[in-house]
Amino acid sequence: MNSVRLVEVGPRDGLQNEAVPLGVADRVRLIEGLIDAGLVVIEAGSFVSPKWVPQMAGSADVLSALGRRDGVRFPMLVPNMKGFEAARDIGAEEIAIFASASESFSRKNINCSIDESFERFAPVLDGAREAGIRVRGYVSCVMGCPYEGEVARAAVVDVARRLYDIGCYEVSLGDTIGVGTPNVARALVKAVAEEIPMAAIALHEHNTYGQALANILACLEEGVTVFDASVGGLGGCPYAKGATGNVATEELVYMLEGMGVRTGVDLPKLCRVAVETCGKLGRRPVSPISTILAEVPS
Ligand code: HMG
Ligand code: MG
Repeated sequence: MNSVRLVEVGPRDGLQNEAVPLGVADRVRLIEGLIDAGLVVIEAGSFVSPKWVPQMAGSADVLSALGRRDGVRFPMLVPNMKGFEAARDIGAEEIAIFASASESFSRKNINCSIDESFERFAPVLDGAREAGIRVRGYVSCVMGCPYEGEVARAAVVDVARRLYDIGCYEVSLGDTIGVGTPNVARALVKAVAEEIPMAAIALHEHNTYGQALANILACLEEGVTVFDASVGGLGGCPYAKGATGNVATEELVYMLEGMGVRTGVDLPKLCRVAVETCGKLGRRPVSPISTILAEVPS
């Protein structure tokens, strides 16, 4: 493996769970910094109910302030037709839908069953096809659920295949509460890859139990080439109690580049973004690497 694609989810997954909400201008500045650091796929926000996730209010303003950038994609998270229409109307070129492998998490997160969530996605996919909008898909709770504990591998495979079959170009396997360990992650990816192409599988690791990099390495060895990460290790899911942030993008980049796997990211620039953003949130980046490398000239 010579190179991978990183999907930066800090401005969405990262900020959606922060106690201090960042305003539109700060979110735009964050994303500009990420672009400058070399990230080319950046989840810029979500069109969900502001009553459920107030931190993501103003996502339309974020996207319109960014405008179009050559070679950069800004997927926007949407749960239903209302979110899709808002995304489409503001000119989104890519969206992400999210299903769960656990019934309980589906209900807590989007207030419907797994099957109902797919009923909601069907018109979203139709609308996206009509408007030429790319659709990414997430499966949550792939290695454990905060409400149900263990989640059957068959359930994960089933939801991943359904997302792929309805037209998602890529399916991101979300270890929402970061409970996975490398052999579990490896076996899961192998099982999903029996149903959908390996090239269409991404891994979305939260680092709650400190296993994120180990899981990523195991899945990289299995053939996964797309990894989600969050600058500064920000975030978590408001409907998954105890879930901490995603794997920190800077830690992931450090590991990959050290292995000779190209990411296209300027690490000192990225670390400066992590330090600045975490400063605004009144906390330190999760990883000491950010403060060390932020001082290094690019
Ligand atoms: P609901 O209450 O069942 O929805 O929520 P509803 O259709 O009955 O509508 C209720 C109200 O919400 C109405 O407004 C609607 O207009 C409004 P009211 O009449 O009360 O003023 N509404 C919306 N407003 C804005 N945008 C929308 C929208 N839809 C309805 N799209 C709903 C259902 C899905 C809306 C709600 O449950 C919700 O917003 N959930 C979002 C939860 C969320 O964002 N969670 C975090 C993201 S998922 C995640 O982090 C996991 C991931 O990272 C992968 C991983 O780690 O596993 C992706
Ligand atoms: Mg997540």
